[in-house]
Amino acid sequence: MTNQIATKTPVNKPFTSADHALINQQPIAPSISIDGPLTESPSLSGDTEAASRASGNVLNITGLTVDIATPRGTLHVVRDVSLHVKRGETLCIVGESGCGKSMTSLSIMGLLPKSAKRSSTRFEFLGKDISQASKSQINALRGNKMAMIFQEPMTALNPAYTIGEQLTEHYRHHLKATEADARARAVSLLEKVGIASAAQRLGQYPHQLSGGLRQRVMIAMSLMCDPELLIADEPSTALDVTIQAQILRLLADLQKELGIAMILITHDLGVVARIADRVAVMYAGQIVEQGTAAAIFSAPQHPYTRGLISCIPIPGRTIPGGKLGTIPGVVPSLIGDMTGCAFRDRCASAQAACAGNIPVHQTPHGHQWRCVLEPSEAQAT
Ligand SMILES: Nc1ncnc2c1ncn2[C@@H]1O[C@H](COP(=O)(O)OP(=O)(O)O)[C@@H](O)[C@H]1O
Ligand code: SF4
Ligand SMILES: [Mg+2]
Repeated sequence: MTNQIATKTPVNKPFTSADHALINQQPIAPSISIDGPLTESPSLSGDTEAASRASGNVLNITGLTVDIATPRGTLHVVRDVSLHVKRGETLCIVGESGCGKSMTSLSIMGLLPKSAKRSSTRFEFLGKDISQASKSQINALRGNKMAMIFQEPMTALNPAYTIGEQLTEHYRHHLKATEADARARAVSLLEKVGIASAAQRLGQYPHQLSGGLRQRVMIAMSLMCDPELLIADEPSTALDVTIQAQILRLLADLQKELGIAMILITHDLGVVARIADRVAVMYAGQIVEQGTAAAIFSAPQHPYTRGLISCIPIPGRTIPGGKLGTIPGVVPSLIGDMTGCAFRDRCASAQAACAGNIPVHQTPHGHQWRCVLEPSEAQAT
């Protein structure tokens, strides 16, 4: 299989360290509100809640596992994933197709298919443990405190209802707002996402809008209830190149302006380079490396991350229309137990130890990666 990252058309302006410096200057709110609809959920101990408030984490997950039963055996689509995202921060999850990015995001949203089973050792949202939350509690969060933007807006928008009906429904339901208030908010958000003649658009149906406009509507819809966490799963992949860039810029601007926590899922490291504060690299259901965007791009440690980065076109160095690097080989099957490093069939540095337990390295700044190579070796190869 060809690595998708190698074949994506670049939509970005060149990434510079100044970009990250700018992004990283965003203020992180010192504390988070834990008021909200989760009054019935199991409470955390005072210590845990205080720690969560102090850390500013909107979402904090450890040991997330998702298994899907299939006639061929159990697919381990998410394996021991730990991640967190703070208010005002964009975490990008990157990796090739089929590595578990969508399953990770769907499990956060409580939208996994029925055949999937989720477990975790910690699942905190806004400082509260929601691992045991009931379906109705998760439903209350979804579309309210956490919202998701999907790759293809037509699958999320209902063709039988007008844009206005779809924009206002959740808002009225969750916030008990009047129709007039809901319509006013919808118009103001459509304007915010750059849709002209917003009031008239409310009466239109999804098929009457272009793909780019539909995705803008989806973004407006996701913001209706003022979410704390926004998950965007490949939000621009279905659009043409120019529109992709506009949608990504819009999302990045809104995230900064509203100071929300955003998880952006993509297989395009060029996009990540422009938008991320922190990056989690997934491979075969696992996070193999995560850290600040600056650390991931300036000192990638895992051979898979370095392979992905080598596939990014570099302005001035990559010949337009020329062939980009690819990572040879295919992603392994996710069926059955996986021992050793899942990347070893494709890794040029693989050695006997890679079939055993793989250590997790961590720097004092939170840069983590799973690999048998020592940091200096990894940097040198
Ligand atoms: N409904 C499903 N039933 C069975 N397997 C699924 C289902 N959805 C996804 N998968 C499998 O789970 C794995 C991870 O998928 P996904 O999270 O969608 O990957 P990504 O978003 O990284 O491309 C893939 O192997 C995919 O085939
Ligand atoms: S653990 Fe081994 S196979 Fe896996 S990335 Fe490191 S060197 Fe390569
Ligand atoms: Mg996906």
